[in-house]
Parts: sequence; C-alpha cells; structure tokens
Amino acid sequence: MINKDRMPVHVAVIMDGNGRWAKKRGLPRLAGHNAGMKAMKKIVDHSDKLGIRYLTVYAFSTENWKRSIAEVSGIFRLLVSYVNSDLQELVRNNVRVKILGDYSELPEDAVRSLEKTLEKTKDNTGLQFNIALNYGGRDELRRAVQSLAFKVRNGQLAPEDITEDLISAELFTGSINADTPDPELIIRTSGELRLSNFLLWQSAYSELVFPDVLWPDFTPEEYEKAIEDFQSRERRFGGR
Ligand code: IPE
Ligand code: IPE
Ligand code: MG
Repeated sequence: MINKDRMPVHVAVIMDGNGRWAKKRGLPRLAGHNAGMKAMKKIVDHSDKLGIRYLTVYAFSTENWKRSIAEVSGIFRLLVSYVNSDLQELVRNNVRVKILGDYSELPEDAVRSLEKTLEKTKDNTGLQFNIALNYGGRDELRRAVQSLAFKVRNGQLAPEDITEDLISAELFTGSINADTPDPELIIRTSGELRLSNFLLWQSAYSELVFPDVLWPDFTPEEYEKAIEDFQSRERRFGGR
C-alpha cells in the first residue's frame, strides 16, 4: 500500500518503449506513440489524485531528432492534438503546464499550441506538469554555463560567487522557468537501465525505479507499485 504521508514531491518519468510496444503488435511506431500519449494522460490524472506536486515526463530528447522525419513529425502531431484536446481538462483540473527544453525549435503549430497551453494554465495552483521536449541534460547545463559566463562578462557576477544554487537556478527546472525541486523518484519503463541525458544535474540523489513494462502498458497500478518501491528505500544522501 502507498503511504500517503511519504509521497515524493516530484516524480520524473522516462516514457520509453512505445516503438517496441507497436512492433510487438505488428503496428507502425506511431501507433505506439499514440498509445503512449494515452498512458501519459492517465498518469497525469493519477499524479493529481495521489497529491504529487510535480510530474515531469520525458517526451522528446535532443537526440530524438536522429529518428526519421516521419516519426519525429508524427510525435509532434500527437503532442499538438494532446495539448489541444486536453487543454480544457488541464485548466479544469487546475494543472499548471511547463516545458523543459528549447521548444522554439519545434514545428510552428506545436509552438503555438504549447504557448497557448502555458499561458492558459500559468496561474493554476494544482499539479505542475513539466513536459521535457527537445530536452537534453547536457544541453541544459551548456545553456546554464553560457548564461553564467555572460553574467561574469557583464560584471553582474564574480566567478568565485558561483554556487550550486546559482547553477540550479539557470536550468530549465530553475526559478525563472519551471521552478521545480529535484525529483525524489525517477521512473524509466521498458527495461532500459540508463538515464539517456535526462535531468543529469537534478538526479544526483534521485531514487531510480525501472518497471519492466513498455510505456503504453504503464498503468496507474504500475505507477503505485513504483511509488511503493520508492517508499521502501532508505535514502542516505551520503550520510550514515
Ligand atoms: C519513447 O519510446 C518515446 C520517445 C523517445 C519519443 P521509443 O520510441 O523510444 O520506444 P522504443 O524504445 O523504440 O521501444
Ligand atoms: C529516452 O528514450 C527519451 C525519451 C523517452 C523521450 P530513448 O529511447 O530516446 O533513449 P535511448 O536511445 O534508448 O537511450
Ligand atoms: Mg526508446
């Protein structure tokens, strides 16, 4: 049973395995991404029910541009239809959407839909739903370093004053964008045991759980199991 008194504040999810899910059924990869979108919707709802404050999903990495144009544009098309059809519901459920990653590089209609979603949900006070899109942990750190370097050059900051908090603030999860604490729990489905450039800085002390299901098969029950697994861990943060 889930212990409601020990809920993680921030859960991050690497939604992996859509392609294999489709392949197993003899379907095109996009059918897997479509099924994955449906699984994601249920996890957003369930996070809200469980009282989780921040949910981050890895939807598209800076490396995913290596895929075929058909797959990449199909993924964005599905995303646009998700945000358009679910905007009312997100607003009704008091969900605040934030994007991690430089989404300006996405197709124009996707950028427009995302901006509308950000704008319409910005004052909501319930679950914060972060969508990592064109996101890479190294790209995020590169941008943070660059921004701090500019501040040093402009005389706004001395190199010896650079702290971990200042670096955190410059990330997509930092105070000027998503203002999200580090995730206590990172879940990756599909059996792959790696982070694939996800939240490299923020995951320093995250607990990692790897449910052995493909993302479209990741149900609220599986989600609760992952949280129970998290709750059974002893977190030490280097102490004894
Ligand atoms: C995750 O599923 C979704 C994205 C990366 C966009 P995949 O498409 O990576 O599925 P597999 O890993 O090929 O099964
Ligand atoms: C990670 O999955 C990215 C997302 C889930 C969006 P990938 O399928 O791209 O990762 P690798 O290639 O297996 O490491
Ligand atoms: Mg994959």
